Amino acid sequence: MEERQAGGREVFPINRNWLYGGELLVEDATAPEFDDSAFARVTLPHTNRLLPWHGFDDKDYQFVSIYRRHFTPPPGLRGRRVFVDFAGVMTAATVWLNGARLGEHRGGYTPFSFELTDHLDPDGENLLAVEVDSTERDDIPPFGGRIDYLTFGGIYREVALRAVAPVFIANVFAKPVDALADSRRVEVRAFLDGLRRADAPQGPLTLEAELRDGGRVLATARRTVAAEDAGADGALDLTLADLGDVALWDLDSPRLYEVVVRLLDGEAAIDEYATRIGFREARFTPEGFFLNGRRVKLRGLNRHQTFPFVGGAMPARPQRRDALILKEELACNMVRTSHYPQSPHFLDACDELGLLVFEEIPGWQHIGDAGWQDLALRDVEAMIRRDWNHPAIVLWGVRINESRDDRDFYARTNALARVLDDSRQTGGVRNFFDSELLEDVFTINDFNPAELRAPNHPRYFNTEFVGHMFPTKHGDNVERVQEHVLRHATVHDQLGLDDRYAGGLGWCAFDYNTHADFGSGDRVCYHGVCDIFRIAKPAAGFYASQRDPAAGIVLEPAFGWALGDRSGGGGPGVGVICSNCDRLKLYIGDELVDEIAPDRERFGHLPYPPFVSDKLVGLWGQPWRDLRIEGYLDGELVAERRLAADGVDRGFYATPDDAELIGDGSDATRVVLRVTDAFDNPRPFATGAIALALEGPGEIVGDNPFALVGGVGAVWVRARERPGLIRLRATHPVLGTQTVEIAVRPAPPEAC
Ligand code: GAL
Repeated sequence: MEERQAGGREVFPINRNWLYGGELLVEDATAPEFDDSAFARVTLPHTNRLLPWHGFDDKDYQFVSIYRRHFTPPPGLRGRRVFVDFAGVMTAATVWLNGARLGEHRGGYTPFSFELTDHLDPDGENLLAVEVDSTERDDIPPFGGRIDYLTFGGIYREVALRAVAPVFIANVFAKPVDALADSRRVEVRAFLDGLRRADAPQGPLTLEAELRDGGRVLATARRTVAAEDAGADGALDLTLADLGDVALWDLDSPRLYEVVVRLLDGEAAIDEYATRIGFREARFTPEGFFLNGRRVKLRGLNRHQTFPFVGGAMPARPQRRDALILKEELACNMVRTSHYPQSPHFLDACDELGLLVFEEIPGWQHIGDAGWQDLALRDVEAMIRRDWNHPAIVLWGVRINESRDDRDFYARTNALARVLDDSRQTGGVRNFFDSELLEDVFTINDFNPAELRAPNHPRYFNTEFVGHMFPTKHGDNVERVQEHVLRHATVHDQLGLDDRYAGGLGWCAFDYNTHADFGSGDRVCYHGVCDIFRIAKPAAGFYASQRDPAAGIVLEPAFGWALGDRSGGGGPGVGVICSNCDRLKLYIGDELVDEIAPDRERFGHLPYPPFVSDKLVGLWGQPWRDLRIEGYLDGELVAERRLAADGVDRGFYATPDDAELIGDGSDATRVVLRVTDAFDNPRPFATGAIALALEGPGEIVGDNPFALVGGVGAVWVRARERPGLIRLRATHPVLGTQTVEIAVRPAPPEAC
């Protein structure tokens, strides 16, 4: 969540007006006097190179580049400490202020700060220069071996200046304890910086904490601050108790509260730090996973944070949208941030939506030398300190994904996680069963779940399956597309076999760009139940259909309606339909050809088993008629779906996710392009170059023209730094033009 400005603290975002010089070719580009007039003006989040959505070389973005930001600080900073906070730079950043080198941060997934105070001119112009190394350096996790994903490059998350008093609150861990009992409380640990400085206030300071529900203060606690009481890291504890009844954070009601910690000098607040929390109890036990005392079967997917064209450099809105897709479209109750700490915006949305998170450190199979391992330890610490207040996060992943056992290393990562946060369990993803378990949960990528050996592994949690075993594209043959659905369904069914299995996270939510050693021939892993544009494939229908019908009826055929796509011809023959109805009637033309119940024989352990009909046949070469599917619940018709037999592209849609953007130069929304049959169904073989024309205060992020792939695709529209109306015209070669309007609201200016 956003840091609030209060007490002595002021936060000044500096995301606009960066000057980007591209590949760094000269030594002195970090010097204040360097002539940067030829640099491009860019806004963060920024990718060091715009790329096609597939078929490019990772070497295209692997270079060292230079960013410069001139600024005159807002008034009032004299006598205060000033920091620059980077939310994430891929992969290493060396930072200079006014020619003074402040240091290098290695690692692209965790935030870092440098203190500027000693080199800052509070009244004049300053120059922040950042040398960004986006090469795959062997000394930095996840690199050193091979990895099945791309990391991209640039200052791809936000940056801010932060002005604070000489003594300030550097971090707060507000830990709900005994959430289900009358003794529930919040143990607040505030980390103070500067207590022993010469310019620290002389008189005793007071630390005050409040639990708030909107404007209401539910509990307060105070203590005096003595430097001797603080730990080496400036930690001081307070307890918010006697809370009375609080609403729990749960999947369907993700209730959030606020904890505000204030540092007072006399009665004057010299700093204030606010964070959100939720009261919930989450435990993996030998009897399964329990949330708030209730057994919950975990059903979710893995997510890579990368997007087409810009890699990781998407602003808050599309990051948040991913959480919405997982929770609302895919009805997941959990996501794994494979294989690194992801955008804070994404995690905020998980908190707000009630989507559980398994977050893990960067890495993929390879364990490096002692220095590399120290950085991985640093990542454990940075991840936990950044994210410990998110109620959505219920498990810390403290192993390098799919690495070999390494007792010393993993004893350290586990011990560190437990010292920092004793309220969450640890996991760590392995891919072999006889692995030494140093974590609390037996998290395993189990791609052969037909041989589930879970009973021997209490707290078994399957963290990956399907994936590379069955890459699937929109336009694949009907047999493959349906098999993709069945494989996801089969594993979740097996995970339902035994209450002791915590559940599973399929590989994966969205297709992603990867290295040449992986993926299909275009360096994409087509492992998603959605494509790289986040557009559902039929396997998404399986996940969606596992929701309670009260939350929405789902009726998703997993096949295209054609006589001749299956080997041998004659219709799809067997048709898989994902639905949470309890009965389906299938009509070809007007003829009722089948009436079916969910396939409980094959999928008896799913809440809503897929339906399978073997009556979807015709004679190849004979007239083919429309399919109509009626969905019933308790005898009542609740859904209907028609699939056209004519094999003609009829509809063309350009649909934005949002009707409004903020004119800050970075806010963006996706515009989904799709061709349909007469009844709005996907046309997975539709092609066409969509010509895009944009007017108004925005720009297209993506290919133009955009060549549809599998009948669909998307570009993003980014707002410029001024209000107005964006009009995007999308023209299909045959199906006409769609116009999308997006209002751009004014954004507050940046203070410097
Ligand atoms: C796993 C790995 C993932 C991804 C997946 C593909 O082994 O952990 O990152 O590569 O395979 O199925």
